[in-house]
Amino acid sequence: MNETPATARKTEELPRPFPKRSAIDPFIVMDVMGEANARQAGGQDIIHMEVGQPATPAPRAAREAARKALANERLGYTEALGLPSLRERIASYMTERYGVAVRPERVVVTAGSSAGFVLAFLTLLAEGDSLGLPSPGYPCYRQILKALGAGPLLVETSGQGRWMPTVADVERLASAGAAGLLLASPNNPTGTMALGPRLADIAEACRRHRLWLISDEIYHGLEYDAEAETALAHSDQAIVVNSFSKYFSMTGWRVGWLVVPDALVRTIERLSQNLYISPPAISQVAAIGAFDGIEELEAIKAGYARNRTLLLEELPRTGLSAILPADGAFYLYADVSRFTADSETFAKTMLRDIGVAVTPGIDFDPKRGRSYIRFCYAGPEAEMREAARRIGGWLKR
Ligand SMILES: Cc1ncc(COP(=O)(O)O)c(C=O)c1O
Repeated sequence: MNETPATARKTEELPRPFPKRSAIDPFIVMDVMGEANARQAGGQDIIHMEVGQPATPAPRAAREAARKALANERLGYTEALGLPSLRERIASYMTERYGVAVRPERVVVTAGSSAGFVLAFLTLLAEGDSLGLPSPGYPCYRQILKALGAGPLLVETSGQGRWMPTVADVERLASAGAAGLLLASPNNPTGTMALGPRLADIAEACRRHRLWLISDEIYHGLEYDAEAETALAHSDQAIVVNSFSKYFSMTGWRVGWLVVPDALVRTIERLSQNLYISPPAISQVAAIGAFDGIEELEAIKAGYARNRTLLLEELPRTGLSAILPADGAFYLYADVSRFTADSETFAKTMLRDIGVAVTPGIDFDPKRGRSYIRFCYAGPEAEMREAARRIGGWLKR
């Protein structure tokens, strides 16, 4: 979103201009959330469908573990790679869930997956290197890369291909000299997944062309039909990024993890020691507790599934018919080209007129995103129903 003139003036008063690499784009989702919160504080009735976060708190077992730790523990720095007990718990969770053996020594606890990307990119990419990113995709990948002096190489995916990259894309990336490919399945903003042999084929193509494969598995656990596969099932060289933010309903706790090849662990440890010292201690304790909250988390997921069904029924009635039924996560990516060629203004006007906050597609796809908006359906069912009702009236006005 545009900077205010006051911000621009302040910049001019600084001793020197600051370097280009910090001039990355805003994360529009967060700007929309700021605007929606300001409207809410001003008394407008807002339905939040902009930010990708559960409306629920951390599971009871996680909060209970944190409460006990606050009362009884020092909560000092932990090892930079994370509490050994949490690394062990994550490794056994992955082994149970996917049936792949993951040793705790390969697990790195991070301050959310966001810190995991910084650590992974710094470890794998030199300045000037490029990384293949499917588009539409999570916007922060490209901004973090730019801030680190590396470059995104956008791979345009299509709705027919469930917005997933293909083996031919990997081959193109290899010819273009990319260092690797980052993919997320389920994907944000589309919720679609790499089904059938797609992930295995991509992993094999990356191996053949000696490209890094970074697999963002943050939406694993939130699938509505086929279960998502971990890239580790197909490559022990893959770098897996995951988090307690989404399935575990712990966005604000800022805790996530990486699984990396043994040969990278010490480099990542040195980076982590110097950049962050350690992930937040209380969040790590809570994360261990979260593994005892699976029943509660499955009930929350059942609510997302109901919201998904409801919106896939109701939104087409409003005129938003071009929506691909998402396989997972809690997003729907809707084509709004019937109504606008400028999704940013469309989203702003929708927020102003009917208090429904959504994210314009340009956050996820700088080129084609002007024709799309993203809905997050992780909110309460009654709010999702009300949002569809308001949108229906608004689009027919
Ligand atoms: C695909 C994807 N990856 C990573 C993140 C970052 O999440 P966190 O830093 O909370 O783990 C998000 C957040 O929305 C996301 O959608």
